[in-house]
Amino acid sequence: MNILIVGNGGREHALAWKIAQSSHSDRVFVAPGNAGTTEDAENVDIKSGDFPSLIRFAKENDVSMTLIGPEAPLCAGITDAFQDAKLRVFGPSKAAAQLEGSKVFCKNLLHNANVPTADYAVFSDPEHATRHITERYPEPGQTVPVVVKADGLAAGKGVIVCSTRDEALAAIDRVARDREFGEAGNQLVIEERLDGQEVSVLAITDGRTILTLPPAQDHKPALDGDKGPNTGGMGAYCPAPLVDHAQLSWIEENVLVPTIHGMKRGRTPFQGILYAGLMMTHQGPQVLEYNVRFGDPECQPLLMRLKSDLVDVLDATLSGRLEDLGGLEWDPRPAVCVVMASEGYPGAYECGKPIRGLADAAKLPDVKVFHAGTATLDGGVVSNGGRVLGVTALGDSIANAKRRAYEGVKCIRWDGAWCRKDISDKALQ
Ligand code: AMP
Ligand code: GLY
Repeated sequence: MNILIVGNGGREHALAWKIAQSSHSDRVFVAPGNAGTTEDAENVDIKSGDFPSLIRFAKENDVSMTLIGPEAPLCAGITDAFQDAKLRVFGPSKAAAQLEGSKVFCKNLLHNANVPTADYAVFSDPEHATRHITERYPEPGQTVPVVVKADGLAAGKGVIVCSTRDEALAAIDRVARDREFGEAGNQLVIEERLDGQEVSVLAITDGRTILTLPPAQDHKPALDGDKGPNTGGMGAYCPAPLVDHAQLSWIEENVLVPTIHGMKRGRTPFQGILYAGLMMTHQGPQVLEYNVRFGDPECQPLLMRLKSDLVDVLDATLSGRLEDLGGLEWDPRPAVCVVMASEGYPGAYECGKPIRGLADAAKLPDVKVFHAGTATLDGGVVSNGGRVLGVTALGDSIANAKRRAYEGVKCIRWDGAWCRKDISDKALQ
């Protein structure tokens, strides 16, 4: 069958690479894709927000299944649009995608489903939000461990972790008065700040059966030792030993299952990838957020380890027969993905830098370089984004997978390329 993947990041390259290996796939298309996806699939020059053109392309090219990578088209209703056009599409409806698209929706669902999450309050009036802080914390210099979140999608930037009263009040101003995140700040959530290590637990669900994937860990801060500004993710590894078998079962039973039930009860049944961002606190795992799609870069090490045919899994989800699949088969070896980024990221950066050494990295065994922000120019590959590549490797231990991934990194260079040097070290401590 012909399969269309929507998106253009490292996640979508990993999905295209994996789907191209399936015995069921004939032509694999990525819209719009990047320089890497042209190696494993065919790029289609349509943006992920242009639903009518994507639907027309799917119809004209006999596409049997479309897989949506990023959250923006899901939250804008791409699944509904494809379904209305009688096309099979993997990913939640617009109503169900609110789990990621609205923090207020997510927190209320978690609360009603009795899923462990930080205590919170919702505000649409900045005055009330400010008073919430000043009344609870009357002393000017007081420690205020809260997190202020814009309700809507804000490209991962609408979450402000605060330590002091001044920071909390400034965060409310940024979200609700200055409208730094636009309409995403129409409502805001103020929640208790949690401490611990973060872990990503993803699951595939058809709305009834849940297949939980092995835990992964992202590295959001830009610099080694989790310093510096937040990014989309500078690297990931899988499995994360932080969550053992018993904890994963606990998370499935107390987090994922009640969430899927809650979504069904609320008449927003969920089909697709449910990604729980969890904080492992002393009181146990608590949900920080949900995403409604594969994580980027978590997808890269996860798919490197997946042995099952992904098309079988997607097909079973769309037919509501995930239960019959039994389970998923995994390579026992861990995988580590190191993101190589442009100089300046997550701030301003330049594109168009020629990238060298990709062919050398491709020769290394058990190493795959997934492209994120790349483009083809005059027959060569150039940088075309903040996160440029995700060098991913398998190894017989996390330490060996890490060593291999950094061997791959060493082969590759461009003007201003950089990466974190400590990806997966938290697993080794
Ligand atoms: P989100 O966009 O909701 O994933 O939040 C982005 C990041 O903010 C998370 O990955 C955490 O590092 C941090 N964060 C969100 N909520 C909390 C919380 N309640 N306590 C501590 N950190 C948080
Ligand atoms: N890696 C974080 C995310 O995909 O949201």
